[in-house]
Amino acid sequence: MTSTWSPDSWRARPIKQVPAYPSPEKLAAMEAKLRGYPPLVFAGEARRLRASLAQVADGKAFVLQGGDCAESFSDFTANIIRDTFRVLLQMAVVLTFGASVPVVKMGRMAGQFAKPRSSDTETIGDETLPTYRGDIVNGPEFTPEARVPDPARMELGYFQSAGTLNLLRAFATGGYADLHEVHRWNLGFVARSPMEARYRDLAARIDETLGFMAACGMTSASTPQIRETDFFTSHEALLLPYEQALTRVDSTSGDWYACSAHFLWVGDRTRQTDGAHVEFLRGVKNPLGLKVGPTTTIDDLLRLIDTLDPKNEPGRLTLISRMGAEKVEKLLPALVRAVNREGRRVVWLCDPMHGNTISTAAKLKTRNFDAILSEVRGFFDVHAAEGTWAGGVHVEMTGRNVTECVGGAHKLTEADLSQSYETFCDPRLNAEQSLELAFLVAEELKARRQPARELPAVAAQ
Ligand code: PEP
Ligand code: CO
Repeated sequence: MTSTWSPDSWRARPIKQVPAYPSPEKLAAMEAKLRGYPPLVFAGEARRLRASLAQVADGKAFVLQGGDCAESFSDFTANIIRDTFRVLLQMAVVLTFGASVPVVKMGRMAGQFAKPRSSDTETIGDETLPTYRGDIVNGPEFTPEARVPDPARMELGYFQSAGTLNLLRAFATGGYADLHEVHRWNLGFVARSPMEARYRDLAARIDETLGFMAACGMTSASTPQIRETDFFTSHEALLLPYEQALTRVDSTSGDWYACSAHFLWVGDRTRQTDGAHVEFLRGVKNPLGLKVGPTTTIDDLLRLIDTLDPKNEPGRLTLISRMGAEKVEKLLPALVRAVNREGRRVVWLCDPMHGNTISTAAKLKTRNFDAILSEVRGFFDVHAAEGTWAGGVHVEMTGRNVTECVGGAHKLTEADLSQSYETFCDPRLNAEQSLELAFLVAEELKARRQPARELPAVAAQ
């Protein structure tokens, strides 16, 4: 069904995961207020990201997308933002240097506040309350007051996103991300971990390369690529009143852009082709993501691709596979094959987190690091078998020393989880586990790239 799109055309469609705001008037007043606020990101930046993602669709670059499952209002400090940014930078250099591939960096940051939930209510003992839907909607505390959706939280979410973005832009372009700093990024938790030696070795090799490049005349002063990096923001476009209020016409192109983040994705629970979330996203020009889960059929997927990327523009659509370690090799090949058969130029990412969530005996949500690695390997194997490019990874991680996922170099067990279990939603990789994953992905990429690179030479003989 295609009809005229407008920023509010989603309102006529069936919608899931809607917070029950008690006062429609207060909600409308907040939307009006946000409509008057400046955009958080600019259309030109979203276009630059789209061009980078087009390189990924062509098999020439790799995506690293990571950050909290749910950002929170209480974790809003410079150190927390810096630590996550720092680990993403470390992961990116491991991938860039280890696998000789450009890395497109996107944070689940500066707006990843709204959460889809499997149940509308939560029961503890004999009390049942509305479920927590992310800090931009209601509060995590298990009290009737906190769980009432409050539109005022949208304004806090907007300002926190602006503050986070401001710091991220400064880190990305103000010297912190200079490649001469790679040793310094290893301070903190990772400096005391089994990943330290591997990272130190890589940093020393980068230093040597930078020394060689400087001797050839390429220094931080002369080469902006050494001094600064592109870093983009992304989140699930779930809370549509907020997203609509931040949607603006770009004066250069006359196109509509969602200006809450550079990249927005549709979650696994809200990807109905005729539903409100897909309707909203089809009309904005930002690069988009679509979660592809175990219940996604080939028909669903092809219809969604037609709706979200009707012109088959490389960089427009990123499919984020989240099948689970046990299912990826069974379910993903047919989808990849169908997309390929239709000549669709999409980016494929692996989210090895959301299909691997388990519950401990103590009823904590966790993920096993081995299952995460296994899904990533399965994803690479499927793409190798189908002759398609495994375009990147999408992970829930933090720069802090949390104990939320079991396994990894420190062999965290279920008994260790209570030491530092801080997530507001799903369990995240800590800094060390994130780095370990990056080393593994770099190895996979390196192994898979070599034969592909040699092919043209052989063919030319
Ligand atoms: C998420 O990315 O936090 C999420 C809820 O994922 P999914 O929609 O794939 O379940
Ligand atoms: Co999550």
